[in-house]
Amino acid sequence: IKIFIPRDSAALAVGANEVAQAIEREAAARGQSVQIVRNGSRGLLWLEPMVEVQTPEGRAAYGPVQAEDVPGLFDAGWLQGASHPLAQGLTDEIPYLKNQQRLTFARVGITDPLSLGDYQAHGGLAGLKRAATMEPAAIVDEVIESGLRGRGGAAFPTGIKWKTVLSTPAEQKYIACNADEGDSGTFSDRMIMEGDPYTLIEGMTIAGLAVGATYGYIYVRSEYPDAIATLNSAIQNARAAGWLGHDIAGTGRAFDLEVRVGAGAYICGEETSMLESLEGKRGQVRSKPPLPAIKGLFGQPTVINNVISLATVPIILAKGAAYYRDYGMGRSKGTLPFQLAGNLKQGGLVERAFGLTLRELLYDYGGGSASGRPLRAVQVGGPLGAYLPESQWDTPLDYEAYVGISAMIGHGGLVAFDDTVDMSKMAQYAMEFCAVESCGKCTPCRIGAVRGTEVIAKIRAGNEREQQVHLLRDLCDTMLGGSLCALGGMTPYPVLSALEHFPEDFGLAKSSQA
Ligand code: NAI
Ligand code: SF4
Repeated sequence: IKIFIPRDSAALAVGANEVAQAIEREAAARGQSVQIVRNGSRGLLWLEPMVEVQTPEGRAAYGPVQAEDVPGLFDAGWLQGASHPLAQGLTDEIPYLKNQQRLTFARVGITDPLSLGDYQAHGGLAGLKRAATMEPAAIVDEVIESGLRGRGGAAFPTGIKWKTVLSTPAEQKYIACNADEGDSGTFSDRMIMEGDPYTLIEGMTIAGLAVGATYGYIYVRSEYPDAIATLNSAIQNARAAGWLGHDIAGTGRAFDLEVRVGAGAYICGEETSMLESLEGKRGQVRSKPPLPAIKGLFGQPTVINNVISLATVPIILAKGAAYYRDYGMGRSKGTLPFQLAGNLKQGGLVERAFGLTLRELLYDYGGGSASGRPLRAVQVGGPLGAYLPESQWDTPLDYEAYVGISAMIGHGGLVAFDDTVDMSKMAQYAMEFCAVESCGKCTPCRIGAVRGTEVIAKIRAGNEREQQVHLLRDLCDTMLGGSLCALGGMTPYPVLSALEHFPEDFGLAKSSQA
């Protein structure tokens, strides 16, 4: 009997290894033969460690399982399908999972992340094989046609970026994958790297074929040791199997890549800082232009894409642009892996086509607050994203619709807060975060964030409140317009949204819409 126990760090953090050992021990003691597969996480994080047992009807889920639950599960006859309080039914029937549209995450949790056989048996390599038969420009056109936009947060069309690199002549070009996933409440990059690393490697190889790059780097944040180890093993396996190296997939073309461990600063996730860091320098923002697509790593044309963008490329090439762009709404095509975090009963990963609402994510998937108190605010898009009050929870999750309400979807992370939150404190925290993480290159951010922290502290203390609010707005204006990169340029979003929608927390008159 096959038993699946995740090796994803979210599961390891709550005892998955101990559960695996206990199952092995218990099965051996009872003379029952089991085959343990260490899969990726299905993304139902509140059920981790979630153990699945293969049955004739499909996989049956149990969770959250602790090592001490294991003897009881065997006593109850779980391998024979007997009921148990931890039983969740067939995994695929759990509404949280059943009601998703998994394209990028199609294999995550299903396969053994390091098995090339599993990968190919579940559709892996089909995209690369097709790309290998196409001209570079045709691959780029397919990605443009799909409507895929940068999933790191900026939503710039991926295919257009590739086109710039393709049409810039150079001896050497690079693919740089940004895996410095630094946004609060986000973990989709990590889940792909740990749960389906080959799809990222395949996506980067296709990108290499498309733009004429022969080498790639995956810049992974140092806080992700499991992802780093999994990727390194996957790269070795892919090389041994001959689809990385001198003659990829029999094309006669070369592509290889390596993992680089991040330098541990939020700003190293900004693309030009990441380039500096990859070159062995201190992570500091470069002015643009020149765009990295024209003059990037070591001065050469470089495709810089987020993990999710690159990991989505294989399915686009395998199934065609039309298949992918059929999902979504407006100019937001395809799906996004939303990451539910904060004060929610059911945190986890939900991949859905654009167009659903925050309310659906919070209640249909998230199950409402973990504390049982009313939800009050949700920060969408990481620490630089706006705080949304309930009046905005029905806006469709679409890049343009979010811009319309002065918010952003970013990397798809959301952090929920209940009614005990003090939004003036959150605004102050946003400024403090910027002050701590600022690379120091430009004045609006380096000095603005420190002054901003002080001004909000004065407002909170009730000193010259009206005057200080005026000053804060002025300062935000300067940071928005005058910062060199998104850190200083977007910190005003959480600050101003908190002020706008939750003025009572700043000691001001309550807004009518909040
Ligand atoms: P941006 O709008 O300046 O650039 C978007 C991308 O398009 C860049 O890669 C840029 O080089 C490229 N580009 C622009 N014009 C181009 C052209 N003509 N040809 C080729 N490439 C072109 O945005 P930026 O500053 O790179 O990213 C900001 C976003 O990052 C924010 O919206 C935020 O959501 C996100 N972010 C994500 C984090 C994460 O952990 N995933 C952390 C912090 C911020
Ligand atoms: Fe550096 Fe901040 Fe300026 Fe960005 S906005 S370049 S992080 S000082």
